[in-house]
Amino acid sequence: MSSCLQQIPVHTAPPYQVTVGPGLLRTCGPRLQEVLSPCRIAVITDSHVAPLYLERVCESLQSAGFSVVSRVVPAGEQHKTMATLAQLLEFLAEEHLTRTDCVAALGGGVIGDMAGFAAAVYLRGIRCVQLPTTLLSAVDSSVGGKTAVDLSAGKNLAGAFFQPAAVLCDTDCLSTLPPEILADGAAEAIKTGVLCDESLFSLFESGSLDLPEIIARCVTYKAGVVERDPTEQGERKLLNLGHTVGHAIERCSGFAIPHGHAVAAGLAIIARAAETRGWTDGPLAERITACLAQNGLPTGTDYSAEALAQAALSDKKRAGDTITVVAPRQIGVCELRKLPVSQLQSLIAAGLEV
Ligand code: GLY
Repeated sequence: MSSCLQQIPVHTAPPYQVTVGPGLLRTCGPRLQEVLSPCRIAVITDSHVAPLYLERVCESLQSAGFSVVSRVVPAGEQHKTMATLAQLLEFLAEEHLTRTDCVAALGGGVIGDMAGFAAAVYLRGIRCVQLPTTLLSAVDSSVGGKTAVDLSAGKNLAGAFFQPAAVLCDTDCLSTLPPEILADGAAEAIKTGVLCDESLFSLFESGSLDLPEIIARCVTYKAGVVERDPTEQGERKLLNLGHTVGHAIERCSGFAIPHGHAVAAGLAIIARAAETRGWTDGPLAERITACLAQNGLPTGTDYSAEALAQAALSDKKRAGDTITVVAPRQIGVCELRKLPVSQLQSLIAAGLEV
């Protein structure tokens, strides 16, 4: 197989490989033969992705001997609901998928989360493969086994930890992405740089973006975290940098603001708040906001601290009367800080732009 492919093992239970490189959708059939016995595969995708890639994927799977069915759901976070999940589960049952069969999630973060959750609960769990088509799903959401749908009370409130059998990340997909969708993924990669890797962060400052290399670095870091803490008991919480306020912004906007853009604003807000509180090793927020802005991302929001705190308090990161926020100390070093929920609003207020 091609030498420009990168293979990143994820040593979870079960273990799997993330493969990053060109041409993976048109060769997904033979590649999945390496991890799946002959079976029926339900390809789940959305109305944006289906016209671009569904035929290519189905043909490759069929030519490798898999029996293939597919379902297209409407695109957008507003459809990541229990109602769509129920339709997907009915579809899997109508198509007589059994415990030896498989779901293939073809799309961005919404499809990966929702199809992954359908696979996790259908017949109490059938295998799932992730075929990410956006930068955001490539660098973050397709890896690590978080699956979910949103509830009225908040984002990703119903879900399961369910590791995929394989992730095939076809970098050819990135060439068709509009700039705002690429920026959405850049937000999660910049977040990874702030968490653990100043040289990754610097790539986004310099604008010299080798996306396959960036994906491989983000996935390699995330794989290590997920191996050590698959169900987010401790270290994995760090991956939520920017997400407490980010999820609140998404929710306040009725999911009109996309995930990566909301995370970028959440990252800028927590960086300013951390600096104001003296939690950072010197000035930091200006460097982070400049990098986000340079990559087409927002660095603030018009929602009030009160509205954001209210929305954030129904997030999963709350535990009783405390909430854990991830705060940057320097580029490449972040820490978890547990706060009484009563202090969240003033922390957010400290991070809002004046
Ligand atoms: N997206 C954060 C995580 O997978 O834990």
